[in-house]
Amino acid sequence: MNSSDFYDFIETRSSVRDFSSDPVSDEDLNYIIKCAGKSPSAGNRESWDVVIVTDESIKEDLSDAAFGQEHIIQAPVVLAVCANYVRSMSQYGERGILYAVEDASIAATYMMLAAHSLRLQTCWTGAFDDDEISEILGLLKHARPVTLLAIGHGTLPEYRAERMPISEHVHEETW
Ligand SMILES: Cc1cc2nc3c(=O)[nH]c(=O)nc-3n(C[C@H](O)[C@H](O)[C@H](O)COP(=O)(O)O)c2cc1C
Repeated sequence: MNSSDFYDFIETRSSVRDFSSDPVSDEDLNYIIKCAGKSPSAGNRESWDVVIVTDESIKEDLSDAAFGQEHIIQAPVVLAVCANYVRSMSQYGERGILYAVEDASIAATYMMLAAHSLRLQTCWTGAFDDDEISEILGLLKHARPVTLLAIGHGTLPEYRAERMPISEHVHEETW
């Protein structure tokens, strides 16, 4: 893949919130998770975990905890990617809280892009009640849900989300 292919690849990804009922194959799901295993992490401690959810009733509960977001029910698979605080804090103390969230975010980004490479659609979903998600999924106390990544076969939105000019993000030498 050259840089132009890479740019096309990332440019053709969009968040999708309209999914068909077509399932995601086990082979695709395994590939997506395997790719996340290649993500970098602080001290290589891999301070992330994922709960794979396909059960309809659990997805309904997750949707309720995500303020009724419908795509969580529609998508055949929801990956609840979590920061694992113990794994990072045991080495880094308080700083490990930040690292675990970063590790989980990067792992989830790899999953999102791996799904895109399989021509599956995704929606990163971060608006939810943490405590409710933890209870529904039986998360251990030292895990924090970072995203509910909805994955499936879906319809791209008619309009792509626009971005601010890149120059607004960039500061030379100092802010
Ligand atoms: C941290 C984070 C939280 C998000 N939470 C939600 C969410 O709760 N519901 C939703 O529909 N989209 C959510 N999104 C998706 C964004 O709305 C979307 O990425 C953004 O509008 C840009 O659109 P694009 O992904 O199509 O490029 C979230 C994305 C991120 C990175």
